[in-house]
Amino acid sequence: MNRFILNETSYHGKGAISAIVDEVKKRGFKKALVCSDPDLVKFGVTSKVTDLLNKAGLAYALYSGIKANPTIENVQEGVSAFKSNGADYLIAIGGGSSMDTSKAIGIIINNPEFADVRSLEGVADTKNPSVPIIAVPTTAGTAAEVTINYVITDAEKDRKMVCVDPHDIPVVAVVDPDMMSSMPKSLKAATGMDALTHAIEGYITKGAWELSDMFHIKAIEIIARSLRAAVNGDDAGMEGMALGQYVAGMGFSNVGLGIVHSMAHPLGALYDTPHGIANAIILPTVMEYNAPMTGEKYRDIAKAMGVKGTENMSQDEYRRAAVDAVKQLASDVGIPATLKDIVKPDDIAFLAQSAYDDACRPGNPRDTSVEEITGLYNKLM
Ligand SMILES: NC(=O)c1ccc[n+]([C@@H]2O[C@H](COP(=O)([O-])OP(=O)(O)OC[C@H]3O[C@@H](n4cnc5c(N)ncnc54)[C@H](O)[C@@H]3O)[C@@H](O)[C@H]2O)c1
Ligand SMILES: [Fe+2]
Repeated sequence: MNRFILNETSYHGKGAISAIVDEVKKRGFKKALVCSDPDLVKFGVTSKVTDLLNKAGLAYALYSGIKANPTIENVQEGVSAFKSNGADYLIAIGGGSSMDTSKAIGIIINNPEFADVRSLEGVADTKNPSVPIIAVPTTAGTAAEVTINYVITDAEKDRKMVCVDPHDIPVVAVVDPDMMSSMPKSLKAATGMDALTHAIEGYITKGAWELSDMFHIKAIEIIARSLRAAVNGDDAGMEGMALGQYVAGMGFSNVGLGIVHSMAHPLGALYDTPHGIANAIILPTVMEYNAPMTGEKYRDIAKAMGVKGTENMSQDEYRRAAVDAVKQLASDVGIPATLKDIVKPDDIAFLAQSAYDDACRPGNPRDTSVEEITGLYNKLM
């Protein structure tokens, strides 16, 4: 048996945020806790939505203390803000960090026995759905608006905790490219490569099946044709990325990922490396490592990446073509090729153990070990 979970409702396209007011009224929500981060407030991204709430006379309070790679403290502050403001639902406005924090807040409000946050790591046995979340992504991206996962950093242990819980899925996702267009080039590149990593890892993960394959192949195709243009400020490119990252999320949320994410998470925890940059650097090397366990799938990936003539390629050729196409895209959008400037060699033993313990590792198509992950980090130096 396979299970598939998606948002109740999602809105897509330029201007989609205008749907929020009606959704709030129809659902009878009374007061929002809006969760966002300080830069989004400063750059006037958060206010694109709060202006609509003000105009409609809808009550809200703002919690905007969320940092990139959000922490346990962020979640606990948010829980207090939700309670002290008498909120009854959440509006998450931001990238994965704001959306993930909102999910953890929403889960804890309705399942207070998990208030320590740490006990939510992995698959927690929560009894009640999160308070309702309306998620508005501003990056393209993590697709946290449609996934059943969230990632919180335990700063004391230098550990990113991946939490998987169907109770956390936002009821409404509002995927509006106008919320994303203010991203600087480097952020568009990083978050776009995160989305591509979701699509590729999701396509080859152990749990992949026909339904998830459909989303992942389409996502690779849309992202491969849109990311360069989006990074260069093209509107159609940004619209493509808004959709492509969401489609990837519809897939991977339901089947899992692999060790690109497992190896990226400790870099976020230890060095605050942006999640998408870490994934993008690691992805081609792990694709090479995983190739023997992927059957014909790299032929499909190469084709979706836009490589011509894949039908007539040998296995070696299409596998190489898929990896090369990913490397080329990463390089075209300005992603560094190695981890040399990020990782301290003395940390590799810690990183490898942490990656092995990560919740995404069991989904990797090739069974691995701490030693082999150590080898992969070394190869990337
Ligand atoms: N829940 C999931 O399924 C899932 C999947 C992948 C990653 N994640 C997690 O999500 C986090 C990363 O999220 P992210 O990559 O979306 O970035 P982010 O939310 O961490 O934001 C990074 C920075 O970009 C800025 N920013 C965001 N949108 C902007 C915009 N439109 N204009 C200008 N600046 C903008 C923010 O202010 C912030 O400073 C990581 O913690 C990662 O582990 C979660
Ligand atoms: Fe990711």
